[in-house]
Amino acid sequence: ESLAGHLSTRLKGLDEALCGGIPFGVLTELVGPAGIGKTQFCLKLSLLASLPTNCGGLDGRVIYIDVESKFRSKRLIEIGINSFPEIFLKKGMAQEMAGRILILHPTSLSEFAESLHQIRVSLLQQQVKLLIIDSMAALVLGEHDSEASRQQALGWHVSFIKSLAEFSRIPVVLTNQVRSQIGDESRMYSFQAQSHSIIKDNPATYDSHLVAALGINWAHAVTIRLVLEARSGQRFIKLAKSPISAPLAFPFKITSSGLVL
Ligand code: GTP
Repeated sequence: ESLAGHLSTRLKGLDEALCGGIPFGVLTELVGPAGIGKTQFCLKLSLLASLPTNCGGLDGRVIYIDVESKFRSKRLIEIGINSFPEIFLKKGMAQEMAGRILILHPTSLSEFAESLHQIRVSLLQQQVKLLIIDSMAALVLGEHDSEASRQQALGWHVSFIKSLAEFSRIPVVLTNQVRSQIGDESRMYSFQAQSHSIIKDNPATYDSHLVAALGINWAHAVTIRLVLEARSGQRFIKLAKSPISAPLAFPFKITSSGLVL
């Protein structure tokens, strides 16, 4: 376990920029277009949190809120076998590691609220070392209530998720999709004037539908924002918001070992 309270991403430059990795106790957001690799990154982080400490992991359990049913345990095990063969090729270990990840499938904020009790109990009793919400925007957009009540409920949930991170002192990672597609560079993160005053810290990472979905307080609830994007066929992970680092970008690939630099 990293001493200062970070989950190492094993992406060297990124870990250095983040002083060790994804910090405990705060919210880290992964933003990017469909298919860029947000879920793949979440799978890798889940493995890293469940690995034994002598392999650089957190030796814990993971709560994975899989809103759009995109979690694939086969893919998780493939990444595990290729990245950590010394663990995953031992008899029964692949199943043991996959079993450390508790997957929940709420499709709306109200269903999520129902699962919060279980999350809270697990955080306290089950050695949970990572909470993932993939994706926050999908959770919010799945809500059928009126816009006003949704915004009110969202404010409450955002505060609650923040407090979960703080009291349990674990990393909390949330994904959000922006509308643009890979390769559609002209429209990538097309900046809408109406969101300008709202997302001052990094306007280019948000498009208006995300701001509309998540409300004005969201951007401020997040401590670290990592933007995944593609330029000229190369994918990049960009540290777009951080209290400790200047904006930096690192090229990455998605292979049989998952997300690698
Ligand atoms: P949305 O949830 O739609 O917003 O996308 P996302 O950002 O979560 O994308 P995701 O993490 O699902 O990444 C999809 C990309 O990962 C694909 O374009 C592939 O390049 C890559 N990928 C997914 N599965 C595999 C796999 O089994 N092997 C390899 N090598 N790459 C994969």
